[in-house]
This record gives sequence, C-alpha cells and structure tokens, in this order.
Amino acid sequence: MTGGSMLPAASSTTGAEYKHYEGRITVYILLTCLLAACGGLMFGYDIGISGGVTSMDDFLQKFFPAVLANKRKVGASKNAYCKYNNQKLQAFTSSLYIAGLVSTLFASLVTRRYGRRPTMLIAGLCFVLGVLFNASAQNLLMLILGRVLLGWGVGFANQAVPLYLSEMAPTKWRGGLNILFQLAVTIGILFANLVNYFTGKVAPEGWRISLGLAGIPAALLTIGGIFLPETPNSLVQRGKLEAGRTVLRKIRGIDNVETEFKDLQIAATADAELIQNPFRNVLLQRRYRPQLIISVLLQFFQQFTGINAIMFYAPVLFQTLGFASNASLYSAVITGAVNVLSTVAAIVVVDKVGRRLLFLEAGFQMFIAQTAIAGILGTAMKNTPSTPLSHSLGVLVVVLVCVYTSSFAWSWGPLGWLIPSEIFPLDVRSAGQSIAVSANLFFTFLIAQVFLSLLCTFKWGIFLFFAAWVMVMQAFVLLFIPETKAVPIEEMELVWTRHWFWKRYFKMQPMPNHINCCNNNNNTDLPSADQLIKLDSNLTSLTAAADSNSLQSTQNNITANSATLVQMG
Ligand code: BGC
Repeated sequence: MTGGSMLPAASSTTGAEYKHYEGRITVYILLTCLLAACGGLMFGYDIGISGGVTSMDDFLQKFFPAVLANKRKVGASKNAYCKYNNQKLQAFTSSLYIAGLVSTLFASLVTRRYGRRPTMLIAGLCFVLGVLFNASAQNLLMLILGRVLLGWGVGFANQAVPLYLSEMAPTKWRGGLNILFQLAVTIGILFANLVNYFTGKVAPEGWRISLGLAGIPAALLTIGGIFLPETPNSLVQRGKLEAGRTVLRKIRGIDNVETEFKDLQIAATADAELIQNPFRNVLLQRRYRPQLIISVLLQFFQQFTGINAIMFYAPVLFQTLGFASNASLYSAVITGAVNVLSTVAAIVVVDKVGRRLLFLEAGFQMFIAQTAIAGILGTAMKNTPSTPLSHSLGVLVVVLVCVYTSSFAWSWGPLGWLIPSEIFPLDVRSAGQSIAVSANLFFTFLIAQVFLSLLCTFKWGIFLFFAAWVMVMQAFVLLFIPETKAVPIEEMELVWTRHWFWKRYFKMQPMPNHINCCNNNNNTDLPSADQLIKLDSNLTSLTAAADSNSLQSTQNNITANSATLVQMG
C-alpha cells in the first residue's frame, strides 16, 4: 500500500478540516503578546537608525572622515551613485547582523532548555549594554562593539519572540498575533527615522541621541523578559505539566482546555528522544526537509525583495537621488509610516485571506513599483544624478517607494517571520526557528554589505535586479508554499502530507509488521506507547466527529489517522 495516493493533494484554504480548540481572545493574551512583541521594536530601531546616522556629517566626521571628504568632493564630474560606497561604513551597518546570526544558534539552546522567556530577558540585557556602548562611543571600536552587542540581542530576541507569539496565540488568531512582532519592527524603524529627522539638526552630537534612544525599546523588552509568563508548549516540553495547564487556562480564558492540552502533551512526548540533537535532526532528517527548505528560502527571498536597500539606506538613497538632507529624512519618515500602517492591514486580514494570497498580490505590486522606479531614474538621471530629479518626478519616486513598501509590509515582511515559527514540530521548533533567524540575518548582512556597492555598479538598474527576484518568488509561492491559515500548530504535519510536492517526504511505508501481528503471531514491531497515544487521540476526534454527524470532518479525521500511520510506518 502506498500512502501518498490516500491523501488529498490540495492544501487547505479554509482550515475547516483541522481540529478546533475551545477558547477566546482575552485581554490577558493581548497584553502578553503586545509586551513580547516589543522585542521587534529593538530590531526595527536598529535597522532604521543606521541609515540616518550615517548620513549625518558630524557622525561621519568623527568616525568616517574619508567618507565625509568623498561626499563633499562629489561634483558634476563624479558618479553620485557611489558617494557613500565605503566598506568600513557598510561594516558599521552590517556588524550587527553577523553577531546576530551567530548568537541565535546559542539562543536556540536557551529557548529549548530554559524556555522562551529567559531568552527574551537575555536579549533585553544585551540591548541595554549595546546601547550604552553606542551612545558613549569615543572611537570606531566602541561603536562596532556596541553594534555587536545589539546584534547579540537581535539574535536572541528574533529567536524567541516569534515562537513565543505563535505558541501563545489561539489558532484562529495566530497569524495576527504573530504579526505584532513585525508591527513592532516597523514601529521601531519609523521611530528611528523620526528621531533621526530631529537629531539631524542637533549639532554636533545629535547622533548620540539617536543611538541612545534605543534604550527605550531595550528596557521594554527587559521588563517583558522579567514579567511575561512562559508558553504552555515550552512548559509541557520541559515536563512542567501543571504549570503548562494553568497558563493554557489563563491565556484561553476557559477552564476546560483538556483537548488542546492533551495534544500539547502528545506533541511534547511523541519524539522526546529526538530532542537530544534537534539541529542535526532538522538538518539531516528527511521529514523536516520541507520546513527547512521553506524557512531558509523565505529569508533569502525576503531580503532579495530589496526591502533593506530602502530601510537601511532610505535617507542616503533619497540624498543620492538629489533630495536635500532634510527632505530625504522626511521621505524616509513617510516610507516608515506606510510600512507601519500596511503591517496593521496584514494583522487584520492574514487569518481571513490566508498567507498565499497576501504573498501573490504583493509580489505583483512590488514588481510594478520597482520597474517604474527604474524607468524613471533610468531616463531622468542616467548615470550622473548630480542634477536632482524634478520636483514632480521626485514626488513620484517617493510615492512608488511607498507602493512598494506597503506591499512588502503585508507580505514578505510579516510572513517571513510568521511561517517559520508555525511550521516546525515542537521537538525541533527552537532549532528550526534559529536556522530561519540565522538565514535572515545572513541575507540581511549580505544586502547591507553590498547594497551601496551594487548601487554604485548597477545604478538605477538595482531596482530591476530586485524586480527580477520578485518574479522568481512568485513562482516559488505558487508552487511550494502551502496555506497554513487555521491549522493548529501541533497538527501542521498534515499540511505537508497533503501538498502535491512536499508529500513525497512523507511517503507511506509498506504495511508495518504489527498490523499483521494477528496472522503470524509476530508482535515484535508493536507501536510504541507514544504512537498509540497519538493514534488514540485521532480516534477520539474521529468518534467525536461521527457523533456530531459531520461527514466531512469524519472523512478528514480518517485522513489525519492515515497521516499518523504514515509517521508510524
Ligand atoms: C525584515 C527586515 C526589514 C523589515 C522592514 C523585516 O521583516 O526582516 O529585514 O528591514 O522587515 O519592515
């Protein structure tokens, strides 16, 4: 018997065929998630602050005098696309990401062994230290050291916060609550742009205020790390069953949480022996291949939308395009505001329209905006944008950048964090998330490090370069990203077994011996206790579904059972 053919090929778009747990959205869970999401504020602030600071003359004079000299020298004869092209300056921006991508691997260990909450606390403390170094920097070394500490914090925060939100949230609102993280990222970026706008006028040390104000989000996350409750999933995984049940009751706002609690227990015990080496498992075991490939590619694509070309360097970019210094920061603030508002739109619709539709619509919008920007810059400025764009074309470019940013903000931005945090099974969830965060920071680093050089080489063609990648992403989403809306986090495996491509990683094995036990009296291959618990749980649902006369759901529970048998195979 081959199992693949027993399973429906299409992915769910309604979620109706998955389990439904009781519970409501409570004030308690909202507040908890809001506080946890503050981890994203810090990430966003760091992304937004570097572009503004590196376009401030006082800052350049103190740490990068060569860049300032070059900037002042640029005249009609020189290619203005290259005026900020300096490896040391790019290292200032990108050192944070290198530190982050290493630290997240350690963060995974802390998240799994000690829980999501202590990981957030460590992140908060690293941030506080990093801010102290940065705001009081006397030389480049102090500045870079501060960035490294902030990067360490980003690694820990981005590892723990998305997981935390996905695990705390009820299935029905998981997408929206998880995107609070990305909302915080965008608010952080906007706050940074606003701060830069004002501190740009404070001579000679306005940049210290810019770097120092990061202390606010750092302090918020530290407070969160002290007071937030641990997730029930992590408590159960670490054997604290009663504490897990209590938190689950509190966050679901009801007393009877037994169905969900039982599933958490099953998920926590099913593969307990695998927990010993989650990284090796996730990297080598075939059954984690779909989640692994998708998580890493999501990060690659997210960065190759070109978003950070805009986010890090918006003020620099707008200045390059001929806007005066204040006007460019102003434009960056507008872009930042569009980013925040569009993320709110994502929160509202993600659990209704699903993830795939958001991706596909946004890809289309990004492609149009990017090619239009390239067209305008290509014809109006060519290679020597020393004569600034006309006022109306300048406004048009800013509008197009906003069109582009809004589509990113309701698709690749939030979904790049949401999907990895919801698709890995509990036993390897921390490791999986940590690989996703590392990949994200690596590709972010790559873009940060090479963007100014790419801009110098490709000039306006840089926007076509990113537009081409957006087309590749559309195909990837269409073919390989299954819909995960409304699928309970501990039932996610069914999504893969039903997908036209990924189901090959879950091929049903030949009938196990124990099924034939009664014919040949050979019972050496009996299923383990854990497998029986899982089967039992599916049978319970099957009975419940039959009781309620729901034919469709009965049929789907049979499918769920088949999937369990596939695993047991
Ligand atoms: C990305 C960042 C990006 C930000 C923009 C995040 O999801 O990971 O690299 O700067 O969105 O809002």
